[in-house]
Amino acid sequence: MARLTRRDKNNNNNNSSGNRPAMPRVIISAAVSVDGKISLAGGRRGPRSRARAPARLSSESDVSRVHRLRAKCDAILVGVNTVLSDDPLLTVRHARAGRKRGGGAAATGSQPVRVVLDSMARTPPASKVAATSPGTRTIIAVSGTAPERRILALRRTGAEVVTVGRKAVDVRRLLSRLAKDGIRSVLVEGGGTTNWEFLRRSLVDEIVVAVSPYVLGGGLRGAVSLVEGSGFPSVSGSPKLSLRSARRLGDHVILSYDVGAGDGGNGNGDGIRRPRRAGSRT
Ligand SMILES: NC(=O)c1ccc[n+]([C@@H]2O[C@H](COP(=O)([O-])OP(=O)(O)OC[C@H]3O[C@@H](n4cnc5c(N)ncnc54)[C@H](OP(=O)(O)O)[C@@H]3O)[C@@H](O)[C@H]2O)c1
Repeated sequence: MARLTRRDKNNNNNNSSGNRPAMPRVIISAAVSVDGKISLAGGRRGPRSRARAPARLSSESDVSRVHRLRAKCDAILVGVNTVLSDDPLLTVRHARAGRKRGGGAAATGSQPVRVVLDSMARTPPASKVAATSPGTRTIIAVSGTAPERRILALRRTGAEVVTVGRKAVDVRRLLSRLAKDGIRSVLVEGGGTTNWEFLRRSLVDEIVVAVSPYVLGGGLRGAVSLVEGSGFPSVSGSPKLSLRSARRLGDHVILSYDVGAGDGGNGNGDGIRRPRRAGSRT
């Protein structure tokens, strides 16, 4: 029997509650080296480090594949370290934008909404994602501790700054808020800390990784893995992945997994499984 994904479970919950919008479908997408790294050593940059070219793990055809995936999603989300390290634009450029998305009024033009997790509002106003926000809707999710002057500087770029959480961004509340805004799918494009946050809270429906033909190493010198954080305490407690497809793209392999909850996973680390609905505050 096919395993229920988080989305299926959420929809079941939703049917029983009747009126709350379903939580968005969450897909983690990343290019990894054969040893599971998503950046080179020194990949995690401090707030004052200058952005530099990210590790190019994707081939040209893989970039097109990722952009086609972006084009199908209502929002693309990254953590602020990825903005600081890579200064990504997070738009659909190597595929036709605006196909099959459900964002409707949530999106401006044909591009997905861009979302940054950024508790302290560290996103530089000059970063591509902020500076281009008048043309492409950008949401910077901050916490209640973000300095007001940085929030104002970001708002001046045209970005929407929303406070979701007291000390750190509460991703469950953020998803719930995005759902109310008509966003039905979110492509999480890292980095490792962000991926961990969504996985540990059992908010991920699908993982798509492009395994690229490189070995990077460098864990001791800050190379970032696909999933960072403190890790799951046991294999049985980690999310259950079921392989949906594996296909070869030149020397890359594209693996797509459905994500179910692990035996001990509940998204809260306390062993109690809770229903997930947009608007529920757990
Ligand atoms: N190969 C790939 O596909 C790929 C894709 C993306 C990124 N990368 C690489 O990944 C590296 C960055 O990864 P990273 O793990 O250092 O950082 P990250 O996931 O990009 O950003 C993490 C930061 O987001 C902020 N944040 C706010 N709320 C959060 C929450 N609830 N949960 C988690 N984070 C939250 C935190 O900073 P505050 O506390 O200041 O808010 C946190 O430190 C870069 O080297 C980049 O090149 C690779």
